Amino acid sequence: MTAERTQVAIVGAGPAGLTLAHILHHHGIECVIVEHRDRAYVERRLRAGVLEQGTVDLFRALGLGDRMDREGLVHHGINLQFEGERHHIPLSELTGGRVITIYGQHEVVKDLIAARLAHGGPIAFDAQDVTLHDVTSSRPVVRFRHDGRERELHCDVIAGCDGSHGVSRTAIPATELRMFERVYPFNWLGILAAVPPSLNEVVYAHHERGFALHSMRGPNVTRLYVQCAPGDALDSWPDERVWLELKTRLATSGGWTVQEGPVLEKSIATLRSVVMEPMQYGQLFLAGDAAHVVPPTGAKGMNLAVADARVLGEALAEWYRNGDRSGLAEYSATCLRRVWRAEHFSWFMTSMLHRFPHHDAFDEKLQLSQLRYLCSSKAAATSLAENYVGLEHV
Ligand code: FAD
Ligand code: DHB
Repeated sequence: MTAERTQVAIVGAGPAGLTLAHILHHHGIECVIVEHRDRAYVERRLRAGVLEQGTVDLFRALGLGDRMDREGLVHHGINLQFEGERHHIPLSELTGGRVITIYGQHEVVKDLIAARLAHGGPIAFDAQDVTLHDVTSSRPVVRFRHDGRERELHCDVIAGCDGSHGVSRTAIPATELRMFERVYPFNWLGILAAVPPSLNEVVYAHHERGFALHSMRGPNVTRLYVQCAPGDALDSWPDERVWLELKTRLATSGGWTVQEGPVLEKSIATLRSVVMEPMQYGQLFLAGDAAHVVPPTGAKGMNLAVADARVLGEALAEWYRNGDRSGLAEYSATCLRRVWRAEHFSWFMTSMLHRFPHHDAFDEKLQLSQLRYLCSSKAAATSLAENYVGLEHV
């Protein structure tokens, strides 16, 4: 058994854990990241693609924005499509010039890992049997097996950044945690295709056959999603079926539809809304998907993970700098205000755009009325835009 000491033990090297590590490093606070998977796996995991302005600003301020600024695609608007008509929502015009940046989550993760290793910050990849102990004491401990050794990390604080299937959350007794949850009766099948985007903006499409989304990862790579049934497995979605649904659901009455190309990756994501309250217990602080999950329709999950990391990082800096615990004491309440706003927005977008099995003609009319309102009222469009680019003050 090797016993080590650090100030903050971070469980999980996703966007939340890595961002927190960089903020702490910026303030001269030591930390060790303990990650269950190997580096290649973490860097290849395809997920989110839309960075809010606040996320981009934070990465730049931490000196992590060089490749993102070179390769990320800055977008000033998105499109909502229904009844075969595409409607542009001018995000920047409606939000005083704020933008979104399309840059894959795995690219963010690669940049953050490379920068951390470059300054000598430890990440224990491939850590097995990670367990948390004494989280209500002033000296909590993280134990794990790594490189054939049992390691024990003594620290002041544990940051549970290990996503929705992690272990950190289970270190909080069920009696101390309240879980709020909504499960949706559909999933998303996502593909990455080697073909230039058919349009230079994101399109969210409402269609009688179900939702579809057009996005991208670069000048020659398109990212697309279709709503599928909860029981569907990948083998029930051969490429031809995926393209047929995408082309049907994304087609406009003017004859526009998506261009087909070789499928590089295909996966299914489940849709859930989850919030754990509170996000802290003793010296354990949960951040990102470990504490809350949103359906991907509002593109909020990664941005929320980064926002939590920022609040936690700044609160820890205050505590170490002058013993002020107020930021830590309020961590959960501060984060939950943003979390619930994003939960509402993601639920709203999901409810408006998908086909629900229990929906009748009345429900569909309501969806279409809401979509029409968003595309015809500046007030309604502004509300969508400010939520989509990310609210500065929640
Ligand atoms: P994760 O990224 O899940 O990272 C957790 C880390 O902890 C992982 O590396 C995991 O291996 C590790 N871990 C797990 N268990 C343990 C353990 N026991 N011990 C140690 N380590 C452990 N969000 C957006 O903002 N915009 C989007 O456009 C968007 N689109 C999405 C599209 C899809 C298809 C999906 C699936 C998600 C999307 N999201 C989006 C959501 C976003 O990907 C997540 O919210 C984000 O990954 C959360 O980051 P995190 O760091 O909290 O958790
Ligand atoms: C992407 C993912 C989303 O969930 C979304 O709402 C928009 C774009 C993407 O992967 O590019």
